[in-house]
Amino acid sequence: MKLAPLIATAATSATLATAIPFLGGVNTAGYDFTVYTNGSFEGPGVDPPVGQYEHFASQGVNIFRIPFAWQLMTPSVGSSIDEGFFSRYDATVQSALSASTAPYVILDLHNYARFDNAIVGQGGPENEDLASLWSQIAAKYADNDKIIFGIMNEPHDLNSVETWVGTVQVVVNAIREAGATSQYILLPGSSWSSASAFPTEAGPYLVDVTDPSGDNSLLIFDVHKYLDEDNSGTHAECVTNNVDVFQTLVDFLVANGNRQALLSESGGGNTESCEQLFGEELAFIKANSDTLVGFTVWSAGAFDTTYILTVTPNADGTDQPLWTEAVVPNLPDV
Ligand SMILES: *[C@@H]1O[C@H](CO)[C@@H](O)[C@H](O)[C@H]1NC(C)=O
Repeated sequence: MKLAPLIATAATSATLATAIPFLGGVNTAGYDFTVYTNGSFEGPGVDPPVGQYEHFASQGVNIFRIPFAWQLMTPSVGSSIDEGFFSRYDATVQSALSASTAPYVILDLHNYARFDNAIVGQGGPENEDLASLWSQIAAKYADNDKIIFGIMNEPHDLNSVETWVGTVQVVVNAIREAGATSQYILLPGSSWSSASAFPTEAGPYLVDVTDPSGDNSLLIFDVHKYLDEDNSGTHAECVTNNVDVFQTLVDFLVANGNRQALLSESGGGNTESCEQLFGEELAFIKANSDTLVGFTVWSAGAFDTTYILTVTPNADGTDQPLWTEAVVPNLPDV
């Protein structure tokens, strides 16, 4: 079923924020292949298979995260959007948006706070260069309330977290000034968007970022957490359900004005340990959905079914065991 375009109502942003449903879904990677963790990039990127959007929506998924390389969107810092790439990216975004659950779509700038090995606002691109990128993207999606701006994937090894949060504020201002006044924005912290570091590292600064639209509840904190031995998301076995980490995060968010966070990356191997522990993690998220508003699993999209954290469906249309055992039971109730 295709849903009619949503008609914007006179609802205030506060009403919209209160109305956010529990969000459960998945990353569809590809346009981020190959962004290195130093923010360098090679290659053309890969289009995620668009058939996955309805495949997952038919199971109740109501959010997708679609990563992209900064270098694909603007070939040099501060330049105009490459309309060729934008057409390609937007076609994928529109496929996701038109899936039967009318899902939210996170536009994820997958650049680790960097462009070509230099940190934004800390010796690399100016804050205004990142703001220019987001201003152009925001203008294109200003009328669509299902778009969520994911302003940076996994900042890490920053010179100053406080300076980084200043960069985040400049970008928030630019998105609103471009006319995208009603959408959720994901605010990225530090230490690879660490959910465990958030309450002591970036969180105390990020809670002070303000929304020019007047309602800070549209600003949602972007956190990541893996379940393997070194929290890297590179091992097939899981060793924790992270419930202690997320309880600490919930306590911080409640104590700082009932703010909200979204787990935009988490996942594990297709192993018994991950099926058990990832299921427990996601059940905790769902049980605390007034604070932890949702999750997008890493990853489907252009990853093949041999990738260690794959949840890409098999060629015959069946799902990976981790998806079936840990994710499906914790998707939004339909
Ligand atoms: C970034 O890292 C990659 C992979 O290690 C390396 O090939 C590339 O030269 C680095 N880029 C810069 C600008 O240092």
